[in-house]
Amino acid sequence: MNKTALITGITGQDGAYLSRLLLQKNYRVHGLKRRSSNENQDRAEQLHLIDFVSNSDGASYQTHYGDMTDTAGLVRLIDEIRPDEIYNLAAQSHVRVSFDMPEFTGNVNGLGTLRLLEAIRLLGLEKNTKFYQASTSELYGNVQGKQNEETPFAPRSPYAAAKLFAYWTTVNYREAYGIFACNGILFNHESPLRGENFVTRKITNSVAKIHYGLLDKLTMGNIDACRDWGHAADFVEGMVLMLQQAIPDDYILATGEVHSVREFIEKTFARLDYEIVWQGKGVDEKGIERKSGRTLIEIDPIFFRPTEVRYLCGDSSKAKKFLNWKPRHSFDDLIDDMLRHDLDSVQNSQSSFPSERIKNKFKSN
Ligand code: NAP
Ligand code: GDD
Repeated sequence: MNKTALITGITGQDGAYLSRLLLQKNYRVHGLKRRSSNENQDRAEQLHLIDFVSNSDGASYQTHYGDMTDTAGLVRLIDEIRPDEIYNLAAQSHVRVSFDMPEFTGNVNGLGTLRLLEAIRLLGLEKNTKFYQASTSELYGNVQGKQNEETPFAPRSPYAAAKLFAYWTTVNYREAYGIFACNGILFNHESPLRGENFVTRKITNSVAKIHYGLLDKLTMGNIDACRDWGHAADFVEGMVLMLQQAIPDDYILATGEVHSVREFIEKTFARLDYEIVWQGKGVDEKGIERKSGRTLIEIDPIFFRPTEVRYLCGDSSKAKKFLNWKPRHSFDDLIDDMLRHDLDSVQNSQSSFPSERIKNKFKSN
């Protein structure tokens, strides 16, 4: 029997990788997709999802217009699909943007989760439909040391506050109504499909453009922030595993390794033989290429957040023990994967650019 899954946020980074994984497992994948003036199929196309559908046994991929703010639409869709599993990935997922759009963020990220869980209850699907909630390491705020499932939450943004509501709503619907509902508390995970306004993709994309002469410099916010960065392809595997267990529970997925934004910048430039030296302090700090003396990085306070989360590092030993989950990509693999993709796309958009330096750089990978 093919299982049926509904993915909200199917057009996002995780939605694309999760769709691919579920199609490989012969799921019938349904996705909630926002109606907008531009078609948003890009990530599905980049992962060639349609090829997985035609090559697999009974698998299918179908998107449906809808919005996390539209209660009746969500109820109607869940009633029509009657999914075995719902993966709630839809969110206004940018932390900085949530300070500019706090009410919208609360509505989508917080109330949106409640709407889905209420739909399961109203339709009498408590025993039929399992539920995954995309919770986040942002819940921890500025806690010292490694964070585990017992670490208290202290959100520091409208984004995180809304996700806190969603986290506890998921726990409450599990306890109150017996719904198989899990929180995946995921630390930062990135990929070539990451949105270009998240820090890792901004860096790899800008470095590729600088390399090909399409951009002068990279303009950054707080480069001393530290994150536990993994690869999205590994993390979606953990999401699926959570819903295959005998008992619903909440799990951290993380690599347990921490790097600063500064280090991410240095390593990305180093891949293309640019050595960065830092001069100055605070907003006057600059990153300069040693060889040419050219300024490649500047700081702009516009990218600072009113309240910052300085350090995140996750302990995923519970997921390792009970789900047998562990990340497969290293930090260096992640940078290589993202940079290679961005170099290729910049190059393809400028097909006359010389490519020998890039080919030589990556020919062993
Ligand atoms: P993403 O690329 O920003 O994708 C977000 C998805 O949500 C997009 O498909 C977006 O649709 C959709 N969406 C936004 N508002 C919506 C609305 N009102 N109605 C319906 N859909 C809406 O995010 P991601 O990186 O894949 O992350 C997936 C989930 O995991 C998010 O909930 C995020 O908060 C959470 N999370 C992510 C990370 C991470 O490091 N990536 C870590 C922890 C938790 P459009 O394409 O139309 O914008
Ligand atoms: N976006 C961005 N742009 N961030 C910058 C910049 C910049 O120019 N300069 C420095 N940073 C710093 C941010 O201040 C933050 O400390 C860090 O880089 C990471 O920023 P993001 O990549 O935007 O991710 P995030 O950690 O705020 O949030 C992501 O991870 C969460 C899990 O911890 C998002 O994917 C959230 O949806 C997710 O929940």
